[in-house]
Amino acid sequence: MSNQLNRQCVADHFQQDPRVIQAKRLILDALSAYQHQLAGPRPSISFLDTSCMALIEEAEKLRGRSLMLPYIGAGIGKGSLVELANGSVKYDFISGIGVHVLGHSHPALVVAAIDAALSDTIMQGNLQQNAEAVKLSRELCEIGNRKEARFTHCFLATSGAMANENALKIVYQQKSPANRILAFRGGFSGRTLALSQITDRPEYRHGLPETMAVDYVPFFDPDRPMKSTNEASQNLRDHLQRHPHKHAVMVFELIQGEGGAYPGSREFFITLMDILREHNVSIMIDEIQTFGRTTEPFAFQHFGLGEYVDVVTVGKLLQVCATLFTEKLNPSGPLLSQTFVGSTSAIFAARAILRELLSGNYFGEEGKILEFGNYFIDRLKSIQQRHPEVIAGPFGFGGMIAFTPFGGNQKKAAQLVKALFDDGVLCFIGGHKLSRVRFLIPYGAVCYEDIDAVTVIVEQTIRRLSNFRGER
Ligand SMILES: Cc1ncc(COP(=O)(O)O)c(C=O)c1O
Repeated sequence: MSNQLNRQCVADHFQQDPRVIQAKRLILDALSAYQHQLAGPRPSISFLDTSCMALIEEAEKLRGRSLMLPYIGAGIGKGSLVELANGSVKYDFISGIGVHVLGHSHPALVVAAIDAALSDTIMQGNLQQNAEAVKLSRELCEIGNRKEARFTHCFLATSGAMANENALKIVYQQKSPANRILAFRGGFSGRTLALSQITDRPEYRHGLPETMAVDYVPFFDPDRPMKSTNEASQNLRDHLQRHPHKHAVMVFELIQGEGGAYPGSREFFITLMDILREHNVSIMIDEIQTFGRTTEPFAFQHFGLGEYVDVVTVGKLLQVCATLFTEKLNPSGPLLSQTFVGSTSAIFAARAILRELLSGNYFGEEGKILEFGNYFIDRLKSIQQRHPEVIAGPFGFGGMIAFTPFGGNQKKAAQLVKALFDDGVLCFIGGHKLSRVRFLIPYGAVCYEDIDAVTVIVEQTIRRLSNFRGER
């Protein structure tokens, strides 16, 4: 025993202690037994309704605004099903806006959280990192470099916004004194003071000082692929000419998520990226939402853009956010540092999620992401064909899918999202000019039966709302 102790850290022995292993097994057994009770959507339990409503009201009071959805989780789920604090069970097809890719209460994530709880620190940071933080950073670089990209560095962060801020600081320093940014119309980058300037939603920066000079380029239009590519490239050249040597970076969101599931195309992106290269402007890909939602781990790999990328950010489904960048961009001085880069449980979970996604046949043309995405799209298409006057689409692909209800009317789309919530399906609103109902399906947990059940509810709810308004 003492010999063995000498070869391993005490922490290793603790984590491998038979009592710990037994405790984990007992927890998983108990979880599985209770998950059997979550067999499908169910309405709330009236006794719990009152206490849940009180919590929602308190949450709204504390936040000073209504909740996006009246969602307070109870703390357990099974696959795409989640139990709420009022005892209702719903299909979660928005997954915390793209976070719960393996659904709710996935055993691998429960184990990851237990392993993290056995570790000594709640949070990890620049002066308190354990081995997992380093391994996660290494793994992200390795995955990112599979197709021509050349990432040598990775900085973890606690939010997508922070990862994007870090990316911007890096490119600004490199391109100093260039101080302008290029971004797409309809794009979303986050909500910090800086990022709210890049996010193309004036209402998100209402009353805020202008901190950055942003020039917007129109995004790809699939109905006019050539024309929209020419328009965007001309527009980009105009900006570059108007402000010579002033642009540090262009931010690319390859599939606009908050904008309503709008994908661009390889030709479109390459046309713009070649122009940016000519003008020595850095290329930043914001994959906070797109990471893990296409045929490749990174959407830039799906679109074949690896050779162009200087810096990329990830977040959401990974639980930990990160900024990956090339050697050339490694900043000088103490530009990047944070007390917290992520919770220990988030870092353990990120590694477990990567393991599951990379070993579970998710990626590729035959992978589960496209397979479930296409199945869902087919089901939504049939609904659209039966109700062409009520919905348009579906749009998007893979793990990012949306449709436009009621001509894109924002109020009606929000009503539909609320009605779907009441009927047992969690989804969310998106869209820039036209409002869309969007889904970020937990493809790591979903099955065909879930998709069938969800689309039945979607159609029933649309029918109910349409009849209610006398639109059919
Ligand atoms: C493309 C994109 N960038 C950045 C963010 C900001 O991420 P976070 O909310 O984690 O700060 C989001 C969040 O929705 C996003 O979709």
